[in-house]
Amino acid sequence: MDIKILPLPPEKMKPKYSDESKLGFGKLFTDRMLIADWNPTQGWHDARIQPYQPFIMDPACTVLHYAQEIFEGLKAYKWKDESVVLFRPDMNLKRLNRSAERLCMPQVPEELFIKGIEELVRLEKDWIPTSPGTALYVRPTMIAVDPFLGVHPSESYCFYVILSPVGAYYTSGFQPVKIMVEDKYVRAAQGGTGEAKTGANYASSLKAGLDANNKGYEQVLWLDGAEKRYIEEVGSMNMFFVYGDTIVTPALDGSILHGITRDSVIALAKKLGYAVEEKKIDVNILIDDIKSGKTTEAFGSGTAAVISPVDILGYKEEALTIGNGRVGKVTQKLYDALTGIQSGAVSDQFGWITKL
Ligand code: COI
Repeated sequence: MDIKILPLPPEKMKPKYSDESKLGFGKLFTDRMLIADWNPTQGWHDARIQPYQPFIMDPACTVLHYAQEIFEGLKAYKWKDESVVLFRPDMNLKRLNRSAERLCMPQVPEELFIKGIEELVRLEKDWIPTSPGTALYVRPTMIAVDPFLGVHPSESYCFYVILSPVGAYYTSGFQPVKIMVEDKYVRAAQGGTGEAKTGANYASSLKAGLDANNKGYEQVLWLDGAEKRYIEEVGSMNMFFVYGDTIVTPALDGSILHGITRDSVIALAKKLGYAVEEKKIDVNILIDDIKSGKTTEAFGSGTAAVISPVDILGYKEEALTIGNGRVGKVTQKLYDALTGIQSGAVSDQFGWITKL
């Protein structure tokens, strides 16, 4: 697929950040974006890299009313030797296309997704921060753009990619966070859209997140939609519990997102000699295990925060400390191993790095 590169006039260039330690997450966007359109007669067409700019949209667009939207998140890094790399973009393409299938949207071909992101990141490489914990966050998105109010899959779509130089997802950085078991709201149910990376899943999580914040917790620990008994995800991340040399994570049961960081953590943990169990985790058993000290560590995993240690679990007015309440040694080891591969400090034995 031919991707046109449109000129970037000097007046469209933004001032760059001056302090990488103040980047935060997703607040700043680079000068250019990738965009392509789809309709049933032309398929994907007019792929172009253009200056970053607002959309002009019909107020009746399907995405604005019925949330027919999917997205992805991946990171680009600039190594010490100046090489620019992407972390597992092939996995994002696969997941995007699975989400597309669930949301009745067209498949995105590799030559648009991978080649488009590679070209865009190459052009914007001066925006990639290099201090530890920073990266260029890549946000591919597809939206339904038919101006039509009937509840029906759209017949036209727009795929676009924007880039954001980012620091830590949580303001506290790689520090333990407090999470609260959510026993009122659910994130997803069997047969719903929990496995898809679609905006509506995140919209429906906001209320529980706010309630947790108001009680002094950073994130919610989601339980299954049917029985509110089995652990699903934490906030917008996958969840892991450590029992000595065994690492346990909820099995992908149809309502849990197939996290790429989750997959990477499992592979790394096995390589480091830990046993990994993917299974149903009953919250009542977990609470007993935390109280008895069997659960030694806990952490969430996601592209944005990479690995986020958890020190306190709130459950029915009780605040339980996991392990010794500090970043555990397994969590630290996995964080170092994963960020080592991403930053080029450790050699990649998995074929996860794509050099541009
Ligand atoms: C991630 O952990 O990468 C997420 O999915 C969070 C993102 C929606 C900001």
